[in-house]
Amino acid sequence: MSDVTKNTDDNQPNKNQSNKDTSDKKHVLKDSSHILITGATSGIGKQLATDYLKAGHNVYAVGRDEDALAELETLGATSINVDLMDRDKVKAAFAPIETIDVAICGAGMCEYLDMPDFDSEVLMKVMSVNIGTLAHAIDAVLPKLIASKGRLVGIGSASAYVPFARAEAYGSSKAAIHYLMKTLQISLAPHDVAVSLVAPGFVETPMTKQNDFPMPFLQTPEQASRAIREGIEHGDEVIEFPKKLTLPLKTLGALPDLVWQQVSEKINRKKNDK
Ligand SMILES: NC(=O)c1ccc[n+]([C@@H]2O[C@H](COP(=O)([O-])OP(=O)(O)OC[C@H]3O[C@@H](n4cnc5c(N)ncnc54)[C@H](OP(=O)(O)O)[C@@H]3O)[C@@H](O)[C@H]2O)c1
Repeated sequence: MSDVTKNTDDNQPNKNQSNKDTSDKKHVLKDSSHILITGATSGIGKQLATDYLKAGHNVYAVGRDEDALAELETLGATSINVDLMDRDKVKAAFAPIETIDVAICGAGMCEYLDMPDFDSEVLMKVMSVNIGTLAHAIDAVLPKLIASKGRLVGIGSASAYVPFARAEAYGSSKAAIHYLMKTLQISLAPHDVAVSLVAPGFVETPMTKQNDFPMPFLQTPEQASRAIREGIEHGDEVIEFPKKLTLPLKTLGALPDLVWQQVSEKINRKKNDK
């Protein structure tokens, strides 16, 4: 189904990147596909759930916020109230679902570290929530995705492209997610499961409310949802947006470390001068 029309901003489908997909249409959404979304109760996931419901798909909305789940139910979603950190409960909660064509794993959290106060508890919490919620969801959806020859979508972050001070915990967890999704792209291909990695820049959601620094090219949840839905529709392996942020970050990340270190020192010096 083509519920996603051409984008007007720079969140263009990833035509020129590693999406060897478009000739292989088998993973493109059908009418009334079955789409499971974790993190569906807030921000990007909630917008995705709303947009997919509007387009007539069957949405399994996963989260813990009862009000948000009830709101999505009124739009037609099947809500699943589960703590994704509990592997057995996730398996039990997903067991009755017969078919999943696309599983979008977007649950996550962000907390920053402020040096020199290295707080290992924060690091462990962010790593464990961002990896654990994704890992337990994959555990529970994979047999269904193998059966449907479906698509697994994991949400990383453009912050994984270069090291940002204060994002030691969040960026590390997202870098791990990038590695995981990219290895699954290789290892699940023989099992006919396609894998997409989403790397958003800044999106205006409850998560970014805490950010007290400039967020260049801040996207709305609607823009983020559109970019992700377009990427899925095109079968993209990497869905990153907005390009005006992700491309320079990727370029910087590919240069010798010294270059980014100097840029980042300059940014910090400017901040401290204020
Ligand atoms: N916003 C950005 O700028 C940005 C940029 C790059 C990447 N991302 C990534 O995009 C994803 C969505 O971000 P967002 O900004 O939309 O965040 P958000 O508004 O804070 O939403 C986070 C979601 O994660 C769910 N969640 C967290 N822990 C959970 C748990 N243990 N069990 C079940 N659900 C859990 C929350 O559900 P409940 O509250 O109902 O439990 C909520 O729906 C995250 O992975 C984030 O890292 C965001």
